[in-house]
Amino acid sequence: MRIFSGVKPTGHPTLGNLLGAMQRWARIDQFRSDDPGDALFCVVDLHALTVPHEPAALRERTREVATLLLATGLDPERCTVFCQSHVAAHTRLTWIMESVVGDGELRRMVQYKEKSARQESVSTALLTYPALMAADILAYGAEEVPVGDDQRQHVELARDLAVRFNTRYGEVFPVPRAVRPPAGARVMNLQVPTDKMGKSDDTAVQGIIYLLDPPDSARRKVMRAVTDGGREVVYDPEAKPGVANLLDILSACGDGTEPAELATRYASYGALKSDVADAVVAVLEPLQARYREFADDPATIDKILRAGADRASALADPYVSAAYDAIGLLPPR
Ligand code: TYM
Repeated sequence: MRIFSGVKPTGHPTLGNLLGAMQRWARIDQFRSDDPGDALFCVVDLHALTVPHEPAALRERTREVATLLLATGLDPERCTVFCQSHVAAHTRLTWIMESVVGDGELRRMVQYKEKSARQESVSTALLTYPALMAADILAYGAEEVPVGDDQRQHVELARDLAVRFNTRYGEVFPVPRAVRPPAGARVMNLQVPTDKMGKSDDTAVQGIIYLLDPPDSARRKVMRAVTDGGREVVYDPEAKPGVANLLDILSACGDGTEPAELATRYASYGALKSDVADAVVAVLEPLQARYREFADDPATIDKILRAGADRASALADPYVSAAYDAIGLLPPR
């Protein structure tokens, strides 16, 4: 079975990215067969072009995200780590996806609605973003897509497009499904616990833990997290979103004990926060140590990304050729 997932190099990656996705990818990788083509993890740099950006910052973020992926423990001998723009199959298949998706479907995507409402001028790429994301997944015939909750709607659309394409033009694509982590699928902002902890947010930055935050600063952010009325530690995301978020984070940083079970161990918010801060720092410190090792050796990162792109291209080309053929395009030779 093949797995594909990606992370966008906009803003600095957060604890939400780690707990909802990246940490899980590294765990999947450790339990896999030895075929590195079975699991592909991509820095989706083309997706970063959908919102206004600085070219130099994009280059930096792309390296940072690639380095963080390796620092989480992804092993390039056991999976494929690469940059989206290095593999032409993604954009070649996007056009095919755009021809099968309706513009109404794209306009209904929650992320499009939210992001377009925040911007003065909206690029066409922001609207067609989910077609590129479907192409990312379908180009590899991926069946499982491990993502946080905020990406589930996009994966559902990729699923619909795979079925639609297969029905219209013949079976080409396996139908993918989103896989959510057991805990941490929706990490919330520590200051505004009804909002997602997002890396490109410019509001409530004190509520965002960045993976490269100095441990002291991450600890402070947890200790200052907004909690809810009352004093009792219970897991109730509706009534007590702040406390529930802390319990979710503790669960995802620890051994996966259910948040409701964790709640029974605490008599005060203060004790809970202090354990959450310890758990977060215990995850960040080794990650940052590995990050620094890799960051000192950019040539190795480049080599890994090049080899990853070669392998990814070889895996994607047959799917793209089959789709071009099925839809009626004449083969080039
Ligand atoms: P991106 O870069 O926003 O996020 C990368 C991954 O992190 C997860 N995530 C979270 N999980 C829990 N809590 C949070 N607060 C949180 N914030 C982010 C996301 O769900 C995601 O799994 N469009 C995608 C990237 C993408 C992709 C793909 C993913 C492009 N093509 C194909 C899967 C398959 C995105 O912007 O993720």
